[in-house]
Order: sequence, then structure tokens, then C-alpha cells
Amino acid sequence: MTGTETLIVGGTGKTGRRVAERLMAHGMPVRVGSRNGTPPFDWEDRATWSAALAGTRASYVTYYPDLALPDAAEAIAAFADTALLAGTRRLVLLSGRGEPGAQRAEQALQASGADGTILRCSWFGQNFSESFLLEPILAGDVALPADRIREPFVDAEDVADVAAAALVDDSHIGRLYELTGPRLLSFAEAIAEIAKASGRTINYRAVDATAFVAGLEAAGLPGDLIELVRLLFTEVLDGSNEYLTHGVFEALGRPPRDFADYARATAPSGIWGTSK
Ligand SMILES: NC(=O)c1ccc[n+]([C@@H]2O[C@H](COP(=O)([O-])OP(=O)(O)OC[C@H]3O[C@@H](n4cnc5c(N)ncnc54)[C@H](OP(=O)(O)O)[C@@H]3O)[C@@H](O)[C@H]2O)c1
Repeated sequence: MTGTETLIVGGTGKTGRRVAERLMAHGMPVRVGSRNGTPPFDWEDRATWSAALAGTRASYVTYYPDLALPDAAEAIAAFADTALLAGTRRLVLLSGRGEPGAQRAEQALQASGADGTILRCSWFGQNFSESFLLEPILAGDVALPADRIREPFVDAEDVADVAAAALVDDSHIGRLYELTGPRLLSFAEAIAEIAKASGRTINYRAVDATAFVAGLEAAGLPGDLIELVRLLFTEVLDGSNEYLTHGVFEALGRPPRDFADYARATAPSGIWGTSK
């Protein structure tokens, strides 16, 4: 029997938390998919999936840690099968732009028979405030293996707006939205926007991949996270995503937020230190 709740897998994460807020504001019941949820959901423990899906009508699906990893597409296929068995037909998948693993995951969703929508997203602005880039920003010295490469950073608020729209309105079934921000920025330019918005001095240095990995090891990051970050900078940020798309406009009928808007909206929280 189809339920009424929407399972937000990764409901405590960068986009999931924002999608949950929007659905609740819309009066829709939400179940937060988390290892600490009730019931718990763990990508590493398939025995948790059926109970987390039971009684739900739809799910926003964010895979962790990243669809670029080799096992991700098979996990998405298995999740979609479990969802359909539970009567959860409506699946909205958060996908990545450029990684072959993400495209395999999209194909797995499309082949599953679910009523699917795919959000193929560029890098989130929020990686600078809610992820591994926050620490070097606070230290005032960001060193990345990215020199002239430019990325059309998308605001997680826009991703959440599109996901919520898709979960509210069935006209988005079968659609694939490629979501980018409205402007290509280098990492140095992105850091400059954050420095301006927070009133701080933050240096940016482009380093080679070997020096970058050595720096992460010295900072004590776990090996699997270092490998993931290395993969993202070589596979995703390789120049093939250096173009803008109109997915936010297609889905919502309005333009996407600019990175400077994200920086201005985020700085007053104090997360980057001094704010004007
Ligand atoms: N970040 C980007 O720029 C970006 C861009 C495009 C696509 N994507 C895709 O988005 C997905 C999520 O990436 P993200 O960076 O945005 O991460 P995120 O959603 O912020 O990740 C944190 C979330 O993952 C959950 N989580 C961690 N380990 C889990 C596990 N074993 N089982 C279930 N949930 C787990 C956490 O929940 P608990 O800790 O509460 O369990 C939390 O809700 C990835 O598949 C990635 O490919 C990301």
C-alpha cells in the first residue's frame, strides 16, 4: 500500500536537510533518512532499507559518499528495486555532472521502472561552508589542485528548490535537469568572493595533485576521504563541465542564484569567521 511520507535519504546533509524543510513547509510528512533516523537508514547496511522505505510514497535519494565511486550505480539499482517492492514509486535522484559513475547511477534509476526525476548537479557552493573546504578557509590558506579550471557552482538552495518541486508536482516525472549556477568561476575567484563577503583575507594557491594529497594526509584526513577528494579533482574538475546549463530555469521558471549571492547569504552566520 502506498504511504504518505517522503523518505529523504541524507536528510541531515547539504541538500537533504533543505529539501526536508521545504516539504514540511508545504505540509508534507517527511521521514529523515539518516544512520541516526527512526528507523535508521544506512547505505552500508541493506537490511535497513526496507524498514526506512515502508509506508513512504516517494524518496529523495542522495547517495553517500559519492556517485563517482565504483559501487554506487549498483547500490542505486538495488535501492530502486527495494523502493518499488515497498510501494515507493516516486524517486528523485541527486546526481553529479561528469563522473561516469554518476551517469551509470542515472541509467540504473531510469531502468528501474520507478517514476524518476534526475537532478544532475555541478559542484555545490555549500562545499565551501559545509564540507572539507571550510577548514582551510578558516585557516586563511586554501591549496587545491585546480588552477585555471572553472566550475559553474550551484547553490544547494536551488537544488533543494528543484527537488522539492519535483516531489510536490508529478509533472517532473521522467525529467533530467542539469543544474548549474549562472556563472563559471575558478576556485581562486570563488575564494575571493568568500573573502569579500566575510571581510577576511584568504590566500588561494594552486598545487599539484601529489602535494595536495600529501597535505590532506598531513592534516590527518582518513584515507578513503582523501581518495574521494583526489578522484573529484581529477574526474569531475577536468574542464569538461566548463559550461552553463538552464536546468534551474527549466524546472522553476527563474534563474539560479549566483555564487556571490551564496557568499553574501552565508557570511553573516559567521561560519567563515569575521563577517562585515
Ligand atoms: N557536494 C557536491 O558538490 C555534489 C554535487 C553533485 C552531486 N553530488 C552528489 O550528492 C551526494 C551527496 O553528497 P554531498 O556532498 O551533498 O553529501 P551530504 O548529503 O552533505 O552528505 C551527508 C549526508 O549523508 C548521510 N550519510 C553519511 N553516511 C551515510 C551512510 N553510510 N548511509 C546513509 N547516509 C549516510 C549523512 O547522514 P547521517 O550522518 O545523519 O547518517 C548526511 O545526511 C553524492 O552522491 C554526490 O555524488 C554532490
